[in-house]
Amino acid sequence: MPTPLAGYAPYKNLPPLAGLCTLEEAAKPGLSVEECVRRLKRFHYCFKRLHQILTARITAEPIYELKTAFAHHAYLCAEHATALRTRIGEMREPPLGLEEVPHPALEAYFDEILASRTTEELLAGVYWYAIQELYSAIEEYSEATNPLTDAPSRRVLRFALLEVGDMSDWGYRATEALVDQEKRKELRGWLNILDELATHAKGLGGTRRDPALQNHEPPRRYSAAPYAYDPIPRRDERFADPWNQGVNAEAFLYDETKPARAKALMMLYKRLREIDVPEMMASIITRTPGKPWGYYRDMSRQLWDEARHAMMGEVGFVALGVDWTKARITFNWSYRLNTECTPDEAHGVLFFIEQGLMPRTGKRYEFEVAQESGIPLMATLQDFDWADEVLHAQIGRSWYVPKFASLKEALDYGDAAWSKVLSNWATVKERGLTQHENWWPAVYAMACAAEGAQPDPAVLAFAESYEGKRADLKTVGEGLSG
Ligand SMILES: [Fe+2]
Ligand SMILES: [Fe+2]
Repeated sequence: MPTPLAGYAPYKNLPPLAGLCTLEEAAKPGLSVEECVRRLKRFHYCFKRLHQILTARITAEPIYELKTAFAHHAYLCAEHATALRTRIGEMREPPLGLEEVPHPALEAYFDEILASRTTEELLAGVYWYAIQELYSAIEEYSEATNPLTDAPSRRVLRFALLEVGDMSDWGYRATEALVDQEKRKELRGWLNILDELATHAKGLGGTRRDPALQNHEPPRRYSAAPYAYDPIPRRDERFADPWNQGVNAEAFLYDETKPARAKALMMLYKRLREIDVPEMMASIITRTPGKPWGYYRDMSRQLWDEARHAMMGEVGFVALGVDWTKARITFNWSYRLNTECTPDEAHGVLFFIEQGLMPRTGKRYEFEVAQESGIPLMATLQDFDWADEVLHAQIGRSWYVPKFASLKEALDYGDAAWSKVLSNWATVKERGLTQHENWWPAVYAMACAAEGAQPDPAVLAFAESYEGKRADLKTVGEGLSG
């Protein structure tokens, strides 16, 4: 017998139901609002925890490609958590209970990944387990819910699935490159614990049924003791000489006698050096729990922008035929802020520097120099770098300045905090950590060779270091990072 649906034809053969789905799909009952909310809250929790884990592990992860990818993925997770919070709020749900833990075993599952001991474990835990499981759980939801009644959730999840898929692909390629067969075998014992915890939690989406393991709480391994954030920035071997403060980039950049094309190189150095901003912002975000969610979302956006700024430097150097590892990319700034300042002080320093980038001598100047350099890529990089910094100044006004009675007070606090971190140029030299080698002539000569141009002797001779200077030189008015 034909169903009533089969006999129903849309008017003039138009696509039915606003393009959402077929009549057959919409005519099947789906999940209840209550069940949707229950599962969406789990997805929200997963994104929130992944955001936390990836952020917390940026600073001490030595490999630059992993630092930048964690910055990216943490930001994506923050955005999806934000979208889910909005959607859950639309589903008859006050009080929202978004800060509650959906299941203790789910909490233990993410705690274990957060506390994983090695990069390999972290990658396996995040990308083989959490991201994969989350993908499957979201897919399962999207198939089970009614595409007409729950169209707003499906829309949010469709986008999430796209980016969770991207993260999964990246994770697959990264583990292929870094985790060999031997290490995979070593990981098995700990990954079994994750498996047991996930099963005990009924899967990430809370729908898995496996009666065998539901009744006993699996033991924690790494997270048996509370997690301790590691604030020490680490770099891979390409970042040789990380205490080097031998080339004063700002002194060169603001010297009117220097040519714009050479200044472009110095700006690329400044961009790549910004990898220290994610390292220090991760420290602020990780050490300031209990803030409104918008704070984490905005700060993570800024953290990700700063990782992109570093990659802009990398790309620019490569495009100009320069081996960027010859420019000594220091971690002095993030190291000192993370170990000598409170999170509030570090935030103050960041805000103070970024406000300093707004006047005419800051980001606009850099963009104009980039245009003047005659390198079209430089103009693109600095154009967007400038736009991002305007956004960061706004983020600072939203989350940092309101802690003070006035903007002036907020700036003074940042200024004072920065002065607390006095120049350590002589100390690190005395301790034998660096000789502050002047790497500039080598980098400049490399760029000239790639371009087929003769080095300008006056430019080649540049030899001004950061000796005796606070990082912004005060008189120059430009910041070290940001
Ligand atoms: Fe910035
Ligand atoms: Fe930046």
